[in-house]
This record gives sequence, C-alpha cells and structure tokens, in this order.
Amino acid sequence: MTVAPRTASAHIDAPEGLIPDALSPVIDALCKVGIDLSRTIARGPLGGALGAEVGENTDGDHQKALDVMANDAFAAALKGTGVRWYASEEQDSVVALDEGGSLALAIDPLDGSSNIDVNVSIGTIFSILPAEDEAEPSFLRPGRDQIAAGYIVYGPHTGLIVTFGAGVREFVLDRDKERFVPVEDAVSVPREAKEFSINASNMRHWRKPVLDYVQECLAGETGALGVNCNMRWVGSLVAEAHRILARGGIFLYPGDARPGYETGRLRMVYECAPMAMLIEQAGGEATTGTERVLDVVPDRLHARVPLIFGSAAMVERLRACHARDGAPA
Ligand code: F6P
Repeated sequence: MTVAPRTASAHIDAPEGLIPDALSPVIDALCKVGIDLSRTIARGPLGGALGAEVGENTDGDHQKALDVMANDAFAAALKGTGVRWYASEEQDSVVALDEGGSLALAIDPLDGSSNIDVNVSIGTIFSILPAEDEAEPSFLRPGRDQIAAGYIVYGPHTGLIVTFGAGVREFVLDRDKERFVPVEDAVSVPREAKEFSINASNMRHWRKPVLDYVQECLAGETGALGVNCNMRWVGSLVAEAHRILARGGIFLYPGDARPGYETGRLRMVYECAPMAMLIEQAGGEATTGTERVLDVVPDRLHARVPLIFGSAAMVERLRACHARDGAPA
C-alpha cells in the first residue's frame, strides 16, 4: 500500500522551499506533538506524575511516565506521514509505520529525563534517513547519510532547531498561535569559546586524553590554553547543545572505565548522529576523539558512541590530546 503523505504545515511557519516536500508531513507531525508535549511539560506537577518511574528501556535506563507518553505520541502522529521505519530509544526494535513510505526516522522522544521533575530543560531529538527495504539497515549506516536532523527543546521557551543539510534554522513556539515561527536562519557555533561541559563526577574513570584536556581547561590563563574557562553541566543533551549553538563551547561524553561506559553513554542513532549533523551544519565539529562522529557506522540499533562536539578550535585541541596519547576516546 502506498501512503499518500499529508500536506501543509499547520504547526510551523517555514520559509518557502526550506522543508523538502517529502519531509513536510513528518516535520509537521513532530511539531504538533512537540506543541502538545510543551503544554504538558509546562503544567509540571499539575500535569500528573510525569517523572514517575514506569519501567526500564532496552539500555537499562529507567523509563519515566513522560518518556513513554512522548514515544507513544510521536509513533501515533507519524503514521501516514511517509515514515516507513520508526526507531525509538524507548523501544527494543524498529517499528513499521507506513509500508510505502520512503523515510526512516530515529527519535529520542524525551531526552534528559532525569530533569523532568526539576523544571530544567528537556527535549526531543530526531534524525531522518532514506528508508531501505529492511528495517535495521535503514539505521545502521553512517550519520552522514541523514537527510535531516533536529531537536525540540522544552525550556523557558520551546524551540525547534533543525537542519536539512544546508545550514541550521531556529524556530520558537509562539504559544498564542500554536505554531513554531522562525527566529534565526543561520545558526552558527563560534570557532573559539571558553566553556566546557562534562560530568566531572566521572573524572576518576576517564582516559588520559580527556583528563589531559580537562586539566588544560582547568589550568586557566597560566596553562597551555592561556584562557580562563567556565564549566556547565545540565544533564540534558539538548540543553547543552542549545547553549553551544548559541554561544559556543565544548561538550564531552567520552568513553570511560566504568563497566558499560567503554564507548560513553549516548546512542549513535538517536543522539550522536543528529547532534553531530546539527553541529557540523552550524560550523562546529563533532568527534569521538579519534573519528568524525558522522563517519561512525553503528553495529546495532542502540550502540553507544563517545560524543565530543562544539566550537571547532576547542574540539581540535581535544583531538590533539588524543593524537598525542594515541588512546581511544
Ligand atoms: O541519556 C541521555 C542523557 O540524559 C543526556 O541528555 C545527558 O547529556 C546525559 O544523559 C547525562 O548523563 P549523566 O547522567 O552521566 O549526567
């Protein structure tokens, strides 16, 4: 059965020609669910126990009520939009949606779930690829094959950041109109910056290149970098990415010595690939420490990959620490 995609974007004011026709129904569905989630999240405890634990996902992460609610809402809204394969961080395997669809969509429906109950920014991350005839091979490919990537950040305002492979656009949800409206048509990451982001509670588990790099940052103007750096760690990837897209900096979730964290914590298909595409499209860099993230081919759907991204000059310095040491990320 060939599915005729829905047309018209009722939930986003996109400039003419920005969204390829084949993607228009998908982006509209993502925006619609994003608007619904934004409303629910903004109600906080009035919206129910959104942060209540309801189970575990395939990676052993605790699933919160909002994780499940968001996943169900996106899967339902994407039916009939031309998405043949739907891969969610919250589900073990790929789900078939539109048999005749030409697209494969990977999603982290609710990123940063440890922040649901504490009124800190959380988000939705998505990646769109051409669909292959089989489910998993549609996703087990390099991130450079993506045809679009983006995220919705639910914070003091709700924003949509998206790329279709020709730069990065920013939209903000206008709550009165119930639509995303454009605010920036060329998001760019400054080449130089002074802010780094890493979960320093894992310092004793880091490998030498990461330890060396962070020590350079901590050394301030008397060290090799010659500048005093600042540090931030929100615990929501979307919030860190949003800050870096706004004012630069570097984010690191490297592999470390903890069992299960050898290749870091973040998933290639749902988190690393879309973030890497956005950052590169905005003029920044994304690496595992030794390899461009967009060149990594995941060996399974939920594969984790070290993710380091941000201002090009900062990422280059981190790569130099790896080259000097020769160790993996
Ligand atoms: O699973 C993703 C995530 O919640 C990211 O949004 C965030 O960057 C990271 O995990 C936080 O990790 P940690 O719990 O080690 O601070």
